[in-house]
Amino acid sequence: MRLATSAPPSPRAALAARDFIALRPSPLPLRPARWHRDCEIPGAPTHAMPKIETLHDLLIEELKDLYSAETQLVKALPKMAKAASDERLKEGFQKHLAQTQEQVSRLDQIAKILEFTPKGKKCLAMEGLVAEGSEKISDDASDSVRDAALICAAQKIEHYEIAGYGTLREFAELLGYDEVRALLEATLEEESAADEELTEIASSINIEAEQGIESDE
Ligand SMILES: [Fe+2]
Ligand SMILES: [Fe+2]
Repeated sequence: MRLATSAPPSPRAALAARDFIALRPSPLPLRPARWHRDCEIPGAPTHAMPKIETLHDLLIEELKDLYSAETQLVKALPKMAKAASDERLKEGFQKHLAQTQEQVSRLDQIAKILEFTPKGKKCLAMEGLVAEGSEKISDDASDSVRDAALICAAQKIEHYEIAGYGTLREFAELLGYDEVRALLEATLEEESAADEELTEIASSINIEAEQGIESDE
């Protein structure tokens, strides 16, 4: 028994079929699959990719962090100056407040040079350091002990800044950002000088604190 076979399409029907195929929307163009770095799933969303990929990216992120740190200090230093009893310490905090405002301006300059917005990130480390400093201010201690505690808090802050600016100056140097490197260097020198001044003031305040001498006596 022979199976019935369908007759070949007429030339007219073949043309109609060809036109129908030509009118169908073409499938989406094939794109090369993106491979997610961590799990290597083709087509993983691009927002899962780490946003810090280069030393330049890292420099920008860390500059934003320092910008937040400095702006927090602009608010904290007047409170520290007010809480200090020793006149040299009070003046030291006030002087460093003016320097810190200038340091924020330098970071603004750097942001213009490197074309990024410095705001929008919170430096959690500085938030913690400032919170610690505030605790010292409210401590029920004698003037000289409170001053010694304020110096302790301030030097922790300065060392944090020195570490940040020192690292970023090296990044800028490696990346060939000469103007940025010079601006970071200027701030780094101020932070180091502030730290040394605090050490100098502490040399007498610590003794007063140990002996229970009030600074206004
Ligand atoms: Fe600073
Ligand atoms: Fe500082």
